[in-house]
Amino acid sequence: MRSEIVKLFAEQPVGTEVTVKGWVRTFRNDQFISVSDGSTIRTLQVVINKENHNESTLKRIQTGTCIAATGRLEKSLGKGQDIELICSQLEILGDCDPNEFPIQMKRHSLEFLREKAHLRFRTNTFGAVFRVRHHLAFAIHKFFNDRGFFYLHSPIITGSDAEGAGEMFRVTNLDLDEIAKTGKVDYSQDFFGKTTNLTVSGQLEAELAALALGKVYTFGPTFRAENSNTSRHLAEFWMIEPEVAFNDIYDNMDLGEACLKFCLKYAMDNCKDDLEFLQEREINEDKQKPVDERQSMPLLERLNMVVNNDFVRITYTEAIDILLQSNHYKKKKFKYPVEWGIDMQSEHERYLVEKHFQKPVIITGYPAAIKAFYMRMNETDASGRKTVAAMDILVPGIGEIIGGSQREERYDVLLEKCKQFNIPEDHIWWYLETRKFGTCPHAGFGMGFERLIMFVTGMTNIRDVIPFPRTPQNAEF
Ligand code: 4AD
Ligand code: MG
Repeated sequence: MRSEIVKLFAEQPVGTEVTVKGWVRTFRNDQFISVSDGSTIRTLQVVINKENHNESTLKRIQTGTCIAATGRLEKSLGKGQDIELICSQLEILGDCDPNEFPIQMKRHSLEFLREKAHLRFRTNTFGAVFRVRHHLAFAIHKFFNDRGFFYLHSPIITGSDAEGAGEMFRVTNLDLDEIAKTGKVDYSQDFFGKTTNLTVSGQLEAELAALALGKVYTFGPTFRAENSNTSRHLAEFWMIEPEVAFNDIYDNMDLGEACLKFCLKYAMDNCKDDLEFLQEREINEDKQKPVDERQSMPLLERLNMVVNNDFVRITYTEAIDILLQSNHYKKKKFKYPVEWGIDMQSEHERYLVEKHFQKPVIITGYPAAIKAFYMRMNETDASGRKTVAAMDILVPGIGEIIGGSQREERYDVLLEKCKQFNIPEDHIWWYLETRKFGTCPHAGFGMGFERLIMFVTGMTNIRDVIPFPRTPQNAEF
């Protein structure tokens, strides 16, 4: 029977015989093997008596070697660990040639490890990140389940463009080589008899369900063929999309804020060792950076601060005014223009959360022209400005982590919006029908799961919080 290292540290069954299986991290003085089995960031010290093993076995104990070790668990006298395994039987399960294994104990850059994504799980950093990722996924389900939401599986292949941004991956089984030769495409001959794509969002389907089940959420992969090679965008990412009947934009803000806080708290309660490790890691990384790029607060302090304080809530119009009145603007330090109507760039959002407020900010009431067709129209204001009941939640270091809105529930207004956005009625008739048959106010949002993980772990590149990132020109593994 194999014991997991996380259990041994928790239960400390000193004096009993146990077997651990895992991968060698280091081997010191022909005597101390530090073993990781992935169940925790902590490694177990396996003490061997070199008299018991021949030279050739000892040579096979290398960083990365997979071993099974059996022996008595004892209190450890050495510093840095409270228990160790006094090994009586050692078996090599899998050799690891040190001349070929790329993951050695020295520090590797994250860029280097991205090229070795099949092996980077073996490092402390990625072990920690992916354990935290798991706990956050669990936290999401717990949050919504505890509140009576139903988990809805929205389709991955769809015929609609939920965001109307046209950034979709086509799904087809047509013979592209043949098409290239003949130059002719007949979509009616395609698998679904029409054009289809990978979903950019499960929202529209979630709305259909919310208008019967009341409270639902989706949690699945979404795909965007946007050619933005940034540290915050993936072509394949996971999104959580709650949708609630009878909620307005204010309820929606409360739900988003509560959800984020719950996830942070859950991670702090359940991933203590990993987060402490990631905090240290960030402090060490920061030492290489110019002072003004360093974090002003350690990771856990930052997370606590977010959990324990109200988010700032402002309108888009107020946000633009803050930007226009900033010294940053007056000194012409923004690269992109600032005026009412702009789609705020990441530099603007970061100024607001990181410089001006230094905490999470919820912005509402965006210009209708820059937001999706389904967002509920507000009353036109005195100066004739048209806005929608949209909300974005921005957090320090990341920018937008949540985007959502109250939905347009009025049939006529929605129909008019579809026309303005050139969405053919016969593409979206099913969505429109819900506004004819017992429509009601409702609202929801989408939270980028990887952005949440970045925020919780302090990792600064989104490629480092998903096992196998898909980005432009890159779909290895
Ligand atoms: O703001 P977005 O585009 O909103 C929607 O898709 C709505 N249908 C959501 C809803 O109301 N149900 O995306 C929502 C969130 C963003 O705030 C961001 O965190 C994340 O999804 N996101 C991405 N994450 C990684 N890579 C990308 N390319 C992302 N695009 C959006
Ligand atoms: Mg958005």
